[in-house]
Amino acid sequence: MKNLAVFVSGTGTLLEAMIKDYLPIKLVLADRECRGMRVAMDAGIPIELAERTDFSSGFDRKTYTQWVDKILSIRKIDFVAMAGFMTILHPVIFDKYQGKILNTHPALLPSFKGDHAVRDALAYGVKVTGCTIHIATEELDAGKILSQEAVPVMSDDTVETLHERIKRVERWLYPRTIREFEKTI
Ligand code: GRF
Repeated sequence: MKNLAVFVSGTGTLLEAMIKDYLPIKLVLADRECRGMRVAMDAGIPIELAERTDFSSGFDRKTYTQWVDKILSIRKIDFVAMAGFMTILHPVIFDKYQGKILNTHPALLPSFKGDHAVRDALAYGVKVTGCTIHIATEELDAGKILSQEAVPVMSDDTVETLHERIKRVERWLYPRTIREFEKTI
């Protein structure tokens, strides 16, 4: 299998699911200290913390992205799966890894793009939402869709309960989609 890196910022439950599915992950990269790093450590996967220290509007996205790119080159990474990675990378990386950076989004794209997809879907009152695995491009949540699954919204759902049900689907759909995708590159 080609060399896969997983990017995380949060709890890393999707990463855990990929590990349980025996996806051979060569590297986990985090932009902040997070539980996902602990998950990687426990599984014996190499970790790189490309720590983002600036969350202001003046954030030097390009320099940060070039740092990430350098790490990927050194580790000989062929493709990337973002799994709850919260930093929007500069276009330079999408130019270089053309079509080889995947993302999962907790809504049925093109609906509810952005950071608050679950909250926005709930607030809109949709009866069905879901998740979308897609190619990441410089335009946020806009690349080619690889797979999607629907998740019904319950009348008593909160953002947390709905997101957890969506993540239950992502945990099987993402590893499967990554395997299928790998055969095409
Ligand atoms: C997922 O719902 C993903 O779609 C979103 O962040 C969540 C990651 O969950 N971008 P976790 O950190 O792996 O638990």
